[in-house]
Amino acid sequence: MSFIDASSRIGLDAALAALRAAAEPTRLRVLALLAEGELTVSDLTDILGQSQPRISRHLKLLVEAGLVERRREGAWAFFGLTEIAPIKQATVAALDRLDPADAALARDRERLAEVRAAHHDAAARYFSAQATRWDGVRSLHVAETAVERAILDILGDRRVETALDLGTGTGRVLELLSPQVGRAIGIDSNRDMLSLARANLARAGVANAQVRQGDIFALPVPADSFDLVVVHQVLHFLDDGARAVREAARALSAGGRLLIVDFAPHGIEELREAHAHRRLGFSNDTMAGWLSAAGLDVVAHIQLPPPDGAADKLTVSLWLARDPRIVADAPLSPSKLEVA
Ligand SMILES: C[S@@+](CC[C@H](N)C(=O)[O-])C[C@H]1O[C@@H](n2cnc3c(N)ncnc32)[C@H](O)[C@@H]1O
Repeated sequence: MSFIDASSRIGLDAALAALRAAAEPTRLRVLALLAEGELTVSDLTDILGQSQPRISRHLKLLVEAGLVERRREGAWAFFGLTEIAPIKQATVAALDRLDPADAALARDRERLAEVRAAHHDAAARYFSAQATRWDGVRSLHVAETAVERAILDILGDRRVETALDLGTGTGRVLELLSPQVGRAIGIDSNRDMLSLARANLARAGVANAQVRQGDIFALPVPADSFDLVVVHQVLHFLDDGARAVREAARALSAGGRLLIVDFAPHGIEELREAHAHRRLGFSNDTMAGWLSAAGLDVVAHIQLPPPDGAADKLTVSLWLARDPRIVADAPLSPSKLEVA
């Protein structure tokens, strides 16, 4: 049972339940870890060095007290801080007062970084192995020509001076957008992908795009510098999509637009093992929440279901969001498409 209602104040019972649940060393450390992003039971077991039943019991108490939410996704479950505003704000405010130099908290953060690095390495090995046949893998999911047409439609024919493509892979998005952008940069963490992207761009005669090695969570670009940022089929590989969205938003200039293309929620569990997917797609609520938390307004959301509705295929979702800061020469309605 949840003691929480969604009003802006916390009732006495809810506050007591939350405080009691948090007043235990492991549970407080779990809350501090979840403030860094969603984690599975197995991640928390690795980080905290405690057995799975113990971690599960702590999580159950935190969920019952309304501090933590469990989000089921296929055979996995992700745990994160509640999205109920007053409880989340109070939790984050309390965690912010903890001394980051505290030995246990510092060790947990180090282990969290190691666990995330292990996830990233597994995905990087997959990308290196796929580098030369990535476009083939993409076309297994959904007709790529339809996705590309939808990308061009949703962006409209407004001229883009500066574009940034995050997790650029083979550089295909840079090539697609090159006729309508002044200058574009693609960022990818994987050297094999970057080599392939450079070769593809040269072969396609794309002269206005460059690629650079970099991490989507710490972009090697100044803030406020791009009219358009694209994140195409990358977020489902990441540990912390919300953080990647915030970092993408940081790169946007006033009035700039962020286009995210990823899968709608699905149940194709094999994609985790065979294709290094961490998340089985994203609901509109999840993505709209991440975009709004990054300070952006969602201006369009469209979905492209598989042509025959086949259960073993995937629906592609496109979200277009906009930095709300006013620029004198930007039209107020950036797309002819309506918000879904
Ligand atoms: C599925 S591919 C998509 C490539 C491209 N956007 C496309 O759709 O053709 C995902 C890409 O994200 C890159 N990637 C994964 N994690 C990353 C990170 N933390 N920082 C930068 N790139 C990352 C991978 O190396 C890979 O090239």
